[in-house]
Amino acid sequence: VAPLRVGIAGLGTVGVEVVRLIERQGRVLSERTGRPVRVVAVTARSKAKKRGIDLSGFKWAKDALALAGDPEVDCLVELMGGAGDPALSAIDTALKAGKSVVTANKALIAKHGLKLAKAAEKHGGALNFEAAVGGAIPVVKTLREGLAGTGISRVYGILNGTCNYILTRMEQEGLSFDECLKDAQRLGYAEADPSFDIHGHDTAQKLAILASLAFGTQVAQSSIYVEGISSIAPEDLKAAAELGYRVKLLGVAMRTAKGIEQRVHPTMVPKSSSIAQVMGVTNAVTIDGEGIPPITLVGPGAGGAATASAVVADIADVARGIRVAPFGRPVEKLQATEKAPMERH
Ligand code: NDP
Ligand code: HSE
Repeated sequence: VAPLRVGIAGLGTVGVEVVRLIERQGRVLSERTGRPVRVVAVTARSKAKKRGIDLSGFKWAKDALALAGDPEVDCLVELMGGAGDPALSAIDTALKAGKSVVTANKALIAKHGLKLAKAAEKHGGALNFEAAVGGAIPVVKTLREGLAGTGISRVYGILNGTCNYILTRMEQEGLSFDECLKDAQRLGYAEADPSFDIHGHDTAQKLAILASLAFGTQVAQSSIYVEGISSIAPEDLKAAAELGYRVKLLGVAMRTAKGIEQRVHPTMVPKSSSIAQVMGVTNAVTIDGEGIPPITLVGPGAGGAATASAVVADIADVARGIRVAPFGRPVEKLQATEKAPMERH
């Protein structure tokens, strides 16, 4: 069987771990998918930068667009980030050439996901983005495939590892917000621009993707009420704890009589609740399906290794020849969500 030839654009926290994981799991991947998976070409901003991995066996593409158009690349893995170019045009180019694309880029999928999904379906490639939401947790697959036959009334959870890590350490160790954020950056959890994490936009992008999968809504960040955690101090968490609560940044999307309501904001949750037990970089997503008890998925929500796990699973699906319509057909109406106060959940 001809190997699946992979080109990776972006060799940062996630990209480096994807190269490592494919090398380490090469034989297992080939056994599980029935097709060898080989990284053949890579690119990043700087060719000279030391990355702690051996890149000498791979072609260095001049840029992401060249990588996407390289006839020796079957599958483009986009790990650069950013909602616009070069990620957007590289993905568009690869899809229009009938190639498959794997990306962890929630900013881009939240903004251009439906358009790119149409290009994928038209030209026969896959567009896989499991790593865009919930790190290693297979939540995209669960909603899209595992619960394809189930009506969903609500999806909510902790969708940003950086914020949960900050809230956990502020509460448990009394550290300042800035100290905790610096550590989250050092550990590779935060976005290149961490304001996306702390102001709630990263959670909103992920929520928009989950809502679209759950309800068939347009992916529309503009209709999400968003409030982050940047104004929370250790004293606030202490006061909440004295009342028997923890503060968590939640993303919530639910069906209402007026349409799909979507919101992101810090929420007081009773310490005894299961969501209050989710600490550190861990994410948790609860799905309320109609006629069945809630399903909760919990796991590592950020970091190179966790994210690489989901990226490589998506590559494995491409190797297997699986092509799933990335989103359903938009059917539900979105509700513009009003400001909601910090509230009990
Ligand atoms: P990093 O900032 O660590 O790495 C980004 C990589 O992309 C770097 O290698 C950089 O090159 C390269 N790059 C950036 N701009 C360009 C460009 N214009 N042309 C070519 N290469 C470029 O990011 P992460 O690895 O953390 O994240 C990558 C993606 O994965 C993002 O979309 C992020 O949102 C997503 N993600 C990240 C997670 C995490 O925990 N870190 C978790 C889930 C998703 P150079 O190294 O030369 O500067
Ligand atoms: N910055 C993101 C987070 C990365 O902290 O959750 C994972 O998507």
